Amino acid sequence: MPKKKLIHFKENLTFPFLFQYRYHELGNGFPLKGCWKEKFFQNSNPVILELGCGKGEYTVGLAKAHPEKNFIGMDIKGARLWRGCHTVKQDNLGNVAFIRSMIDHIEHYFTRDEISEIWITFPDPHPGKERKRLTSPRFIEKFQKIMKPGGIIHLKTDDMNLVDYTSGVIEKCGHKEILTIRDLYNSGTGGDVVNVQTYYENIWLQEGKKICYLQFSINNTN
Ligand SMILES: C[S@@+](CC[C@H](N)C(=O)[O-])C[C@H]1O[C@@H](n2cnc3c(N)ncnc32)[C@H](O)[C@@H]1O
Repeated sequence: MPKKKLIHFKENLTFPFLFQYRYHELGNGFPLKGCWKEKFFQNSNPVILELGCGKGEYTVGLAKAHPEKNFIGMDIKGARLWRGCHTVKQDNLGNVAFIRSMIDHIEHYFTRDEISEIWITFPDPHPGKERKRLTSPRFIEKFQKIMKPGGIIHLKTDDMNLVDYTSGVIEKCGHKEILTIRDLYNSGTGGDVVNVQTYYENIWLQEGKKICYLQFSINNTN
């Protein structure tokens, strides 16, 4: 393993806002499940997740723009998470946490109604493997279990097939598509969706790709 990566992994162990549990440790219950606001953030502000956050640009960018909300970034790659953690430490942000875990285990970290919004930023589209797509029914059913009624999901992607696929899932599963913008930076849209750019987003923008934004609300009345 490259020396730099090892140094970053070691530093990851020192960040009090980065949680990395082994799967078997989760069997005993994740200590902040159901009490993130009270025990970690120590406020009653909404909690917003970024899934597959990579270096955490959205988690950190939104946390700076919205001190009245709490943000948690989740990804399996420790070397990428280190980047976001380093910024949180440097800028002394109190409304951010990161979780190093497979998103597949999300129900171990949060309970019903604990999450207000989810951002999914430039996920791998997994063309041949539907069950790995973060907007597949398998994942959305997990999100339903932890989100507030009517909770909002934001998807930002360069992959138009993923947008079409996600629209189909929304319709089939009774969720509500709120907004679809197929060429975000030529749409005149402002706000959070254009104010932060991620590592992968910058790669696709440099290649001249269009960026798409899809927003939908979760049907979790059942
Ligand atoms: C294409 S990268 C995008 C990273 C970042 N959002 C960006 O836009 O730069 C996809 C990220 O999702 C993470 N990821 C994909 N599937 C995951 C899963 N099931 N559990 C945890 N992380 C996952 C990968 O580790 C990777 O960092």
